[in-house]
Amino acid sequence: MNHLFDQPFSRANTGAVKYDAREAVFGREDVIPLWVADMDFAAPEPVVTALTERAKHPAYGYTLYPDSLYDAMIDWYRDRHGWTIERDWIQLVPGVVPSLHAAAMAFAEAGEGIIIQPPVYPPFFSAIQKTGRRVVENPLIEEHGDYRMDLAHLEACAAAEDVRILQLCSPHNPVGRVWRRDELEAVLDIARRHNLVVVSDEIHCDLVFPDKPAHTMLGLLARDDDALVTTVAPSKTFNLPGLGLSALVVQNPDLRAAMRQVFDSMHMLQCNPFSMTGFEAGYRHGGPWLGELLVYLQGNRDFVIDSLRRRVPPIKVREPEGCYLLWLDCRELGLDDKALRAFFVDQAGVGLNPGQTFGRQGSGFMRLNLACPRVTLERALDAIAGAYETF
Ligand SMILES: Cc1ncc(COP(=O)(O)O)c(C=O)c1O
Repeated sequence: MNHLFDQPFSRANTGAVKYDAREAVFGREDVIPLWVADMDFAAPEPVVTALTERAKHPAYGYTLYPDSLYDAMIDWYRDRHGWTIERDWIQLVPGVVPSLHAAAMAFAEAGEGIIIQPPVYPPFFSAIQKTGRRVVENPLIEEHGDYRMDLAHLEACAAAEDVRILQLCSPHNPVGRVWRRDELEAVLDIARRHNLVVVSDEIHCDLVFPDKPAHTMLGLLARDDDALVTTVAPSKTFNLPGLGLSALVVQNPDLRAAMRQVFDSMHMLQCNPFSMTGFEAGYRHGGPWLGELLVYLQGNRDFVIDSLRRRVPPIKVREPEGCYLLWLDCRELGLDDKALRAFFVDQAGVGLNPGQTFGRQGSGFMRLNLACPRVTLERALDAIAGAYETF
């Protein structure tokens, strides 16, 4: 038993999307919810204490970001990722997805192209579509379950006259790749030669399995004059996504000004006293909790992969390197996407993210969230194996 992560954790009466939206999304409210990417674990105890203490002080007025918050973030990236960030490069903003939208508005005109590498987190598409820019797809190459970037096709996409931005997902949700240094160097090289702005979404940077090589921050490899916008947040790392605070790290002053201008134009640079408190406490005190979490998640990953291999052999899974997500290749079940959804929802009673929401390359796949007590995964695996037996 793990004293932190095996604990039953009720999210009843908290308005949790993962639970309370089940009826709307799956048509039944009793599916075992292994979808939305948050965790069924309590936030780290120092975060809870800091928020509780803050709440006890009844001053909830307009608030400034304290120096200590910037210091906590700078120390975290220096100590865990070997990345030295200067305070001026940081801009606090209300989320990574809003940052994708803002970057589209800042660096591309309406109708101009933005490259994404599907299958990829659905807001990578919608940030482009909703801002009236154009999606340019550079699909990942899949070989025997292994994924890599198509660098030759990336170069061809980047060379087009009106393509301005590459949205990089690093580590890559949903396939769980942690890009190697040489892969990232190649991306930077292409971006430099074709004047692309790289928007590097590194929200999952702290979530790398202990038995896999470490994550490399793109900013570590970039030169001073590279056009790079990095987006990070403590929200995935410490399970605080409802607090809605993330950070941009932009070394280039022109790019920084352009991003600031977009957020400023909507008057969105305000500070919420609770978000700020959770953000700082996570980065300052959350390290030991994260260490235990990653070991636990690795155990969950191994449990699910082993169970599927033994009990549902047609579902293939490549061992992910990062993110707490499994990308299930269900194509050997021979079902179309509608029937695949019915297999999981109606027969097994398990709620996963359908692969085709990550792009057409995700057809025949499902994404499973590992971040829950193991007993939940045991129930889900029993249910999936049971459905397969009567398949
Ligand atoms: C790659 C990626 N980016 C961004 C987000 C969400 O970021 P935010 O809640 O800060 O908008 C997620 C959440 O799953 C994600 O996986």
